[in-house]
Amino acid sequence: MRHLLSTKGIDRATAVGILDVAEDMADVATREVKKLPTLRGKTVINLFFEDSTRTRTSFELAAKRLSADLVTFSAKGSSVSKGESLKDTAQTLAAMGADAVVIRHSASGAAHVLAQSGWIDAAILNAGDGTHEHPTQALLDAYTMRKRLHGVASRGRDLDGLRVTIVGDILHSRVARSNVWLLEALGASVTLVAPATLLPSDLSTWPVTYGYSFDAALDQSPDVVMMLRIQAERMSAAFFPNAREYAREWGLDDERLDRLRADTMVMHPGPMNRGLEISARAADSPRSTVLEQVANGVSIRMAVLYLLLSGEREADQ
Ligand code: CP
Repeated sequence: MRHLLSTKGIDRATAVGILDVAEDMADVATREVKKLPTLRGKTVINLFFEDSTRTRTSFELAAKRLSADLVTFSAKGSSVSKGESLKDTAQTLAAMGADAVVIRHSASGAAHVLAQSGWIDAAILNAGDGTHEHPTQALLDAYTMRKRLHGVASRGRDLDGLRVTIVGDILHSRVARSNVWLLEALGASVTLVAPATLLPSDLSTWPVTYGYSFDAALDQSPDVVMMLRIQAERMSAAFFPNAREYAREWGLDDERLDRLRADTMVMHPGPMNRGLEISARAADSPRSTVLEQVANGVSIRMAVLYLLLSGEREADQ
């Protein structure tokens, strides 16, 4: 693996292998074991053109727990705000000797452009590009599902037969896209639920079933219900029904929460709009994995940094 840009096309063995390395990292990620010297002498640059709490912080912790040198660069307060291009920014970072660049950008495809441009010879990790992909989020979600299902016996296992329902703003969700490709690779089946205006037009090419009724999807007793944030910043008023109608039809409210099996996982990548796509009781319930997802993000990001930066870089992606 030279870069981590997408989960599309990932094979099951590779996906399971990443989750297994994250298992190996878990004791360090949770600080039960002191940090590892593995990436001493390597430089990781966090290049964030969009806001982030979880992804940026957990990449920072992951790099530090592997002893890499780390610089976090946010577009606000940098020369990007003076109009500097992605190319000039990348070449500037290359001149400073970056071994890995973790990039979040509002443009779909930004991480691919950086990886294929030749502007910088570093491993590129996609930390979310527009509405396209967020591969480490999907990996930490799969890791969380596997951990809840199999606990200490997780190693080597996939998610064969798991039934996952993803609900909400699918159209604008890079989390949904990365999850769909990764969950397919791991053997899970995915149902998408959203208002018609928040479903992509090319769904017939996705390996999913889909529908418009959350209540009908809950009748199928899914193993996992993953709620998505309404991405108001990426949509015009025409897409959005109205907050009250959305919460009534597509929100995981207390009544729907009580219909779930006791072992159904309630997931959300965060940040959450409490009271809109998820009630406070659902977000804080024992079924909720929200904080486990955040904690597991450090293990997953340690795993991908380790896999990309330890040893010799491969010539091709
Ligand atoms: N889930 C996620 O990507 O959260 P942040 O935007 O806080 O990084």
